[in-house]
Amino acid sequence: MGETAKIILDGKEYEVPVFTGSANEKAIDITKLRDLTGYVTLDSGYKNTGATKSAITFLDGEEGKLWYRGYPIEQIAEYGTFLEVSYLLVYGDLPTEKELRYFTDSISHHTLVHEDMKRFYEAYPTHAHPMGVLSSMIASMSTFYPESQNPNNFRDIDLTIHRLMAKMPTLAAQAFKVSIGHPIVYPRNAYSYTQNFLHMMFALPTYEYEIDPVIEDALNKLLILHADHEQNCSTSTVRMVGSSQSNLYSSISAGIAALWGPLHGGANQAVIEMLEKIKNDGGDVSKWVAKAKDKNDPFRLMGFGHRVYKNFDPRARIIKKACDDVLNKLGIHDPILDIAKQLEEVALKDEYFVERKLYPNVDFYSGIIYRAIGIPTEMFTVMFALGRLPGWIAQWKEMIEQGEPIGRPRQIYTGHDLRDYVPIAKRG
Ligand code: ACO
Repeated sequence: MGETAKIILDGKEYEVPVFTGSANEKAIDITKLRDLTGYVTLDSGYKNTGATKSAITFLDGEEGKLWYRGYPIEQIAEYGTFLEVSYLLVYGDLPTEKELRYFTDSISHHTLVHEDMKRFYEAYPTHAHPMGVLSSMIASMSTFYPESQNPNNFRDIDLTIHRLMAKMPTLAAQAFKVSIGHPIVYPRNAYSYTQNFLHMMFALPTYEYEIDPVIEDALNKLLILHADHEQNCSTSTVRMVGSSQSNLYSSISAGIAALWGPLHGGANQAVIEMLEKIKNDGGDVSKWVAKAKDKNDPFRLMGFGHRVYKNFDPRARIIKKACDDVLNKLGIHDPILDIAKQLEEVALKDEYFVERKLYPNVDFYSGIIYRAIGIPTEMFTVMFALGRLPGWIAQWKEMIEQGEPIGRPRQIYTGHDLRDYVPIAKRG
């Protein structure tokens, strides 16, 4: 027997195995704990729970390391294309030229969405948030492709994966066009994945839209940096929904809903709104840092802090540099970038933030780049979802291939003791 852990309960000693990951992370394997002892563990927010074994992404929060299938994020973001990285995440290795050509061609082939789906847009209110629209459009796709219902048919699953990768940018761009009252722009398969998305977002029938390579590069990098992040809230949601053998579309739709929240992917929108507020309030960053520290004030510095990174977020470093590069190359001076930098400087020196190991996360600077490349604020979290899609798919696929059981946590009941029903006339 390898390494074990001893647990003493009511004076009785139990021995349980310790599982060691490939980067030497240790986990006490409590799979048999309840059977052995009658006890369960209590871990609200799953801060200490390894919900699965996974070979996709490695993350070391203390050292600020992030690897996709063994490749460090710094190299992947520098040299990769988003589709290449998507292939890596989903299928486990970087593609050969032939594999990448097939993957790219197949995705290009599926970029159109069923014309009937356009009618759905008419039913949403004009100012519907695009995350709500995207989540329901993706859920609706399962009704158009009933062959996706069987998660164990691997041929159909591959088709579903390619359809999702192909159609999500189309649906996202369509949702945007509809929300501003512009005509929908159809995909153009001669373009790369990122070029096509920019084309669908910004082209108009009235003039030729030229794709700026600086913008395309920035988009490629942002999508790659968001592509996976192991068992975060939305990914855990995708795995949880999928664990009931629900189809991939429904699982991704649930992931989009989870990502929407301001404590998760919605933070990129919240950061820009916060920076705008600080600017309009006169730009005194120390006032807002003080508010964030005040326990009687619900305000938090959006884009700061992370459940896992307690030193620095390697994605934030890359994005901060990309942000400077993109704004310089586009010749844009955005006053909220100055505010963001001041805020970072003040917060990083402040004892409150230092003590709690609160650093800028991936979302602190991403919104400034999105803004510079013309993406409206309400679309920021949609951009995150587009980037995270291959990660969600890879995690769902791994869960199905590992034959994981349905996700069903326990609870510790803290409610009333057993009591008798009281007729309404006798209550109160
Ligand atoms: N501003 C001010 N104080 C903060 C912040 C913040 N942004 N984040 C954490 N803290 C404080 C908490 O008040 C708490 O203080 P206390 O110990 O005195 O009570 C302490 O730091 C620990 O915070 P928790 O909320 O317990 O940390 P947790 O790991 O649960 O939360 C989270 C992480 C949700 C990211 C949090 O830092 C936060 O709300 N940040 C702002 C939202 C944000 O940027 N989210 C994006 C995350 S990245 C992503 O999802 C892609």
